[in-house]
Amino acid sequence: MSAADSAELTRPLLRRGWTAAPDPEQADAVVIATCTVRQHAEDRALSLIGSLRPWKESDPTRVQIESACAAERQKHWLEKRLTYIHLVVGAKSIDDYPRLVEAALDARFDVFSENRQAFDETPLLSPTGSSATAFLTIMRGCNYSCSYCIVPAVRGRESYRPVATLLEEARQRVGEGAKEIILLGQTVNSYSSEHAGKPVRLPDLLRLLDALPGIERLRFMSPHPFFVDERLAAAMAECRAVCEQLHLPAQSGSDRLLKLMRRNYTSDELLRKADLVRRYQPRVVVSTDIIVGFPTETDEDFEMTLALVERLAPASAYCFKYSPRAGTASASQPDDVPAPLKEERLARLNEVVDRLTQAALQSHVGRTIEILTEQAGFGRTRGGFKARWTGAPGRPGDLASIRVTDASRRTLLGEIHEL
Ligand code: 5AD
Ligand code: SF4
Repeated sequence: MSAADSAELTRPLLRRGWTAAPDPEQADAVVIATCTVRQHAEDRALSLIGSLRPWKESDPTRVQIESACAAERQKHWLEKRLTYIHLVVGAKSIDDYPRLVEAALDARFDVFSENRQAFDETPLLSPTGSSATAFLTIMRGCNYSCSYCIVPAVRGRESYRPVATLLEEARQRVGEGAKEIILLGQTVNSYSSEHAGKPVRLPDLLRLLDALPGIERLRFMSPHPFFVDERLAAAMAECRAVCEQLHLPAQSGSDRLLKLMRRNYTSDELLRKADLVRRYQPRVVVSTDIIVGFPTETDEDFEMTLALVERLAPASAYCFKYSPRAGTASASQPDDVPAPLKEERLARLNEVVDRLTQAALQSHVGRTIEILTEQAGFGRTRGGFKARWTGAPGRPGDLASIRVTDASRRTLLGEIHEL
């Protein structure tokens, strides 16, 4: 989401004729996209903001802009304390950002204004770093209230971008060379809109996009498990472009904690969702998110999480230590799992996940599989695994077929079979 936000924050600058600088020293402006989901992310953003002070002070014409979720949460504090920052744009104002940034830059860089129109067609660098792949934000905000999560507070209620806009943007990205579109939303599968007088939910949107010429691959992130249903599983299986990949954030394997987290499913229900999608798409690669050390988590709860991860058998998992976020429901409870215990549980969990990742990678060895080339000699499988190969390297956007010979810790290794 942050990578997609950054790309959107970049767009109005490119349109004015600005180009990306390799480092702050060579930049006239720096835009920082901040995340506030865990304290650690926010601390890193603040430390970066602080470290740019000498950069800013050495040349007063330089422009510094803070944006997105931590900026939403700390807008007043940032504006009051760090007066040299030109603009603070919170995540809720991101639709207003082009206008705000124009105004801020107009006040400083009049000379660029007349060039603006000429750069309207400038192709965007993809947030993934490859022109083969483009993110498409289909909804913003979140209507849920998971007790640990700050997203609803900083991003607001759900809003859905119109179907016609999404189809148009997808066509544009394909015109710029994208072969893969990744649909984004905080709970991407609660998307709800209409088109030609008919309701459109995520499965319908997948079918509409699948019918567009030029899209080789479609993915979506992140679905809420509660809304993973048979219609979605069927659409995933039937759409040629939809990849065999599903991120299913479990958070915990303890039903007691899932209830306290207000996740709206039990561990058995979550496993049944994964089974459902696997029935429709047998090769689907599942990944998940887990939080360890949620308030009151006992050894027994944690063992249930380990057991769930074993049964879900994700190919990868993002595992986090619980981080209390001010204003969330669970932050009013004591953060009572001691830091060393959180650390120990995280390490044990990561061991299990690493083993599952290795097994998933190794299961590819000997197979010949399709790769979308992102850079010369590097790309991804439909399941989302990274792959490197020898032989004809290909160009971004090429579909290659490689024979997998080995795997490193996170990447498949192979040789070209066909380009
Ligand atoms: N502490 C730890 N992890 C969190 N996440 C969200 N909020 C918190 C928090 N307060 C994790 C969840 C979510 C992912 C994006 O970040 O696992 O799925
Ligand atoms: Fe946060 Fe829950 Fe919404 Fe995900 S569904 S963004 S975890 S509140």
